[in-house]
Amino acid sequence: MCGIVGYVGSQHANGRPLDVVMGGLARLEYRGYDSAGVALVTQDAGLATAKKAGKLVNLEGLLEERPLPPATAGIGHTRWATHGAPNDVNAHPHVSADGSVAVIHNGIVENFASLRAELAADGITMTSETDTEVVAHLLGAAYAATGDLAEAMRLIARRLHGTFTLLAVARDTPDLVVGTRHDSPLVVGLGEGENFLGSDVAAFIAHTREAMELGQDQVVSITPDAVTVVDFEGATVEPRRFTVDWDAAAAEKGGFASFMDKEIHDQPHAIADTLLGRTDDAGRLVLDEVRVDEAVLRQIDKIIVIACGTAAYAGQVAKYAIEHWCRIPVEVELAHEFRYRDPVVNAKTLVVAVSQSGETMDTLMAVRHAREQGATVLAIVNTHGSTIPRESDAVLYTHAGPEVAVASTKAFLAQITAAYLLGLYLAQLRGTKFPDEIAEILQDLREIPDKVQTVIDASGHVREVARSMADATSVLFLGRHVGYPVAMEGALKLKELAYIHAEGFAAGELKHGPIALIEDGQPVFIVVPSPRGRDSLHSKVISNIQEIRARGARTLVIAEEGDTDVLPFADEVFYVPRTPVLLAPLVSVVPLQIFACELATAKGLDVDQPRNLAKSVTVE
Ligand code: G6P
Repeated sequence: MCGIVGYVGSQHANGRPLDVVMGGLARLEYRGYDSAGVALVTQDAGLATAKKAGKLVNLEGLLEERPLPPATAGIGHTRWATHGAPNDVNAHPHVSADGSVAVIHNGIVENFASLRAELAADGITMTSETDTEVVAHLLGAAYAATGDLAEAMRLIARRLHGTFTLLAVARDTPDLVVGTRHDSPLVVGLGEGENFLGSDVAAFIAHTREAMELGQDQVVSITPDAVTVVDFEGATVEPRRFTVDWDAAAAEKGGFASFMDKEIHDQPHAIADTLLGRTDDAGRLVLDEVRVDEAVLRQIDKIIVIACGTAAYAGQVAKYAIEHWCRIPVEVELAHEFRYRDPVVNAKTLVVAVSQSGETMDTLMAVRHAREQGATVLAIVNTHGSTIPRESDAVLYTHAGPEVAVASTKAFLAQITAAYLLGLYLAQLRGTKFPDEIAEILQDLREIPDKVQTVIDASGHVREVARSMADATSVLFLGRHVGYPVAMEGALKLKELAYIHAEGFAAGELKHGPIALIEDGQPVFIVVPSPRGRDSLHSKVISNIQEIRARGARTLVIAEEGDTDVLPFADEVFYVPRTPVLLAPLVSVVPLQIFACELATAKGLDVDQPRNLAKSVTVE
């Protein structure tokens, strides 16, 4: 939630600070798009600010009407509103009463009411409804008292309760941006004669791939030539440096109409890159990043996957595979439920936290809770420099590249792939699969990118059906076994992108309730298991299709190539390539993603930035 950018580079005292900040905001807009604003430190006129409700394009319009003067440093913010309506006044930056500092904020200051009362007693009147304005006034006062922006930030940060990333500039320090973080993200980008701050690395990858992680409760000062970090006690800290392996071009639309469409097309690469370099010369899986002692992994007796949204469905898919390959019980739990139900977790529990952003607050809090209970925590994360991997015992990075569209697609497939790798690694370590069986599954996985490409190439039919359904008001999704989480993800994509009521159900549950929803013309997607799968699941789901069709449903069937059994009962069939049962979600979800994207586009909706949502949910 809320995207934050900071830039300083005195040798470029011209339009560059504004360009860098606006470019960074464009890349972070997925974090929130209720309003946007910038503050620049100009060489002659002190602070110059501009802010506007609505998407970044509104701020761009304002800046064209009223250009800001050349500057040496700047900060920018794109907001997902918490305190106060998303209007011009509540937009960030907020400037202190004395006009000396400008502040932007991601998070929630929980004790803002008492701080506000304290400021009111000092005669300061608030102009906005935000918690952030309180911080601006406090910082202004502390800066007046200390004459040192970083020290002022350190002093006030210690007084704030809640979650925050704060960036500030002062009118009389043209070469300085100061930031701090507590339970909200902030990373540093290292340039030549210029430095950057961002909520995540996407903010600055167009300029540098050299970056630095900031730990909890630290204050960072960037000047054109130096980065200084202290903790809240004032002690100097040496942050960890890392290189971002994302390609800057990957964060551009590259000719596609939307990031969503582009990211759907990126999926074969996302899977292939996540698989790359994971085996040694003998073909054995080597997960270098998983630095957990093998003895610990051998003695775990339970796995709990914690995640939110799409990432949780990736966990549900992984459950089927990991339990089958490793014979370890796997629970999948929404991170926000996990922490509050007194889960049974101990030193023999492996908690797997799945998160694209690595910043989802609910998942982070669940990670902390699990570690406090003595569990080993392994993170499956896409974004380097984020908080969840830093606070976990180990990390397995997905290599999906930057995901910009708010609704997740390629990260989902990469998360499933990484979770499969983890399952196979545990099977190898614990001897529950023979090496040749593992090698065979790895080979099957390596063939998936081509199969996903086949689905994308053949998406004309699903796109056509989607366009014809722009007026639909409700769509149901049924699946069984690994097709069940696929059905739920298909429904989630449609809700998020097209604002259509959609529900995913386990096909076996149909007669226990959902079938009552079926009436004439009700569209239902059915993810049909492979006819080569276990037991009689295939024929049971075919019976389900018949049951709902007999009651008037319009049946939209996802089936494996060559499965002619579905034909008599399907109004539409979308075939996907033959894939081993446990790996099938990687291909069967793709038509559902394309369906949601195409239908929402046909409705004229913004598929990259759906209403009310934000990509990184960094408040609980
Ligand atoms: C938000 C996004 C979803 C995402 C979920 C979890 O709700 O809109 O696309 O699946 O957060 O995010 P994470 O970054 O933890 O995977």
